[in-house]
Amino acid sequence: MKLLKRVTAMAMASMLTLSMAACGGDSAKDAAATGGAEDAAPAETEAPAEPETTPAEEETAPTEDGTEAENTEAPADTAAGAGGNIGVCIYKFDDAFMTTYRNALQEILEGKGYTVTFMDGKNDQAEQNNQINNFIAQEVDALIINPVMTSAADQIIATVKDAGVPTVLINREPTAEQMSAYDKLVYVGCDARQSGTMQGELILDTPNKGDINGDGKVSYIMIQGDPENVDAQYRTEFSVKALTDAGMEVEQLDLQRGDWDRNKGQEIAQNDLAKFGEDIEVVFCNNDDMAIGALQAIQGAGRTVNEDIYLVGVDALDAALNEVANGNMTGTVLNDAKGQAAGAVDAMEALLGGKTYAAGEQSIYVDYVKVTPENVADFQ
Ligand code: BGC
Repeated sequence: MKLLKRVTAMAMASMLTLSMAACGGDSAKDAAATGGAEDAAPAETEAPAEPETTPAEEETAPTEDGTEAENTEAPADTAAGAGGNIGVCIYKFDDAFMTTYRNALQEILEGKGYTVTFMDGKNDQAEQNNQINNFIAQEVDALIINPVMTSAADQIIATVKDAGVPTVLINREPTAEQMSAYDKLVYVGCDARQSGTMQGELILDTPNKGDINGDGKVSYIMIQGDPENVDAQYRTEFSVKALTDAGMEVEQLDLQRGDWDRNKGQEIAQNDLAKFGEDIEVVFCNNDDMAIGALQAIQGAGRTVNEDIYLVGVDALDAALNEVANGNMTGTVLNDAKGQAAGAVDAMEALLGGKTYAAGEQSIYVDYVKVTPENVADFQ
C-alpha cells in the first residue's frame, strides 16, 4: 500500500520537478553550492520545511483509501528517466574524501536532470536522523545516505523502509544482514580489505620490504580512521596481513585512532616519532588526509620518506598524488570517488525503475587501485 502511494507521489513529484526545472528553478543547486550546512535544521528541530530545497509539496499525494490501485510500473519508470528530487545525506561535509565524493555525486545527478539537496550530518547521527526524516516528509524520490554511524544502520534502514523510499547507502557499509531488512536498499562502496592488502603490497614492493634497518621485522605505527567504520577496521587488519602473509615479521609500535583527520594524523605521528624515533620504519595511515598530516610530522622530525621511513595512505586525494609523485609518500590507493558516485546513481536509478535487491546481493563494489610513483601520473 505504502509503495503504491509512494510510486504515485513520485510521478507527481517528478512532474513538478520537471516543470520547476523548465522554469529555471535552481534553488536546490544554490543550496548545495552554499553547502546546505548552514541551512540544516538544528538537531532539535522537527519541522520538515527546510529552506534549501524545494521538492514538490505533496498535499496532493493519494491517501490510504485504496483507490490509487494497481499501477506500480509506469510511474516508476517515468521517475527514473525524468529526474526527480534526490536527498543526499553526508556524514560530515568537513571530510576531504567525502568532499570529492559529494562533488562527483552533484555533478552526475545534476547532469542527469535531478534536483539534489545535500545535507551535512556534522558527524552527529541525531542530526542526520532529522535530516532523513525531513527528506521523507518532503517526499523525495530517493535517498543517498552516507551514515554517520554504521551502528545506526538498523534504525536508518527501518526508517526508509517504513517510508518506502528507495535508498542507496554509500561509504560506510552495514552488514548484509542489516541490509536484508529492505529490498529497495543497496550499498555502493569498495571492499576495504582490498585497500588494506594493497597498502601492505606497497610496502612489500620497496627494496627492503619495509625492513629498513634489517633487523628481520617491519616496525610500524598504524594511524587508524574512526574504528567504528569497517574501512578503518579492514585497512588496519589487511595492510599488516599482507606483510605477514608474505612471510614478514611485524612489530606494531603503536595504533591510534586519528578519525580520518589530518590534524590528528599529524599529532599522532609527531608523538610517535618523538617516542620511537628511528625504530619506526613504516607509517600506515587508513586514509590520505591523515597521511598528509603524518608527512608534516615526518618532515618536522627530519626524516625522509622512502629513505629512512615509509608512508602509505588510501584515497588518492590530489595532495597525496602530488606527494607520491614527489617521493614524499611511498604510495597510496585510489578510492574511486567518481566510480562510486556513478555506481550509486546507477543503483539509485535501478531502484527508481522498480528493481529490488535480494538479501546477500545488496553490496556493489568498485575496485581500489594501487598508486605508485610509476603510475601516479595516470591519476593526476
Ligand atoms: C575514506 C576516508 C574517509 C572515510 C569517511 C573512507 O573510505 O578513505 O578518507 O574519511 O571513508 O567515512
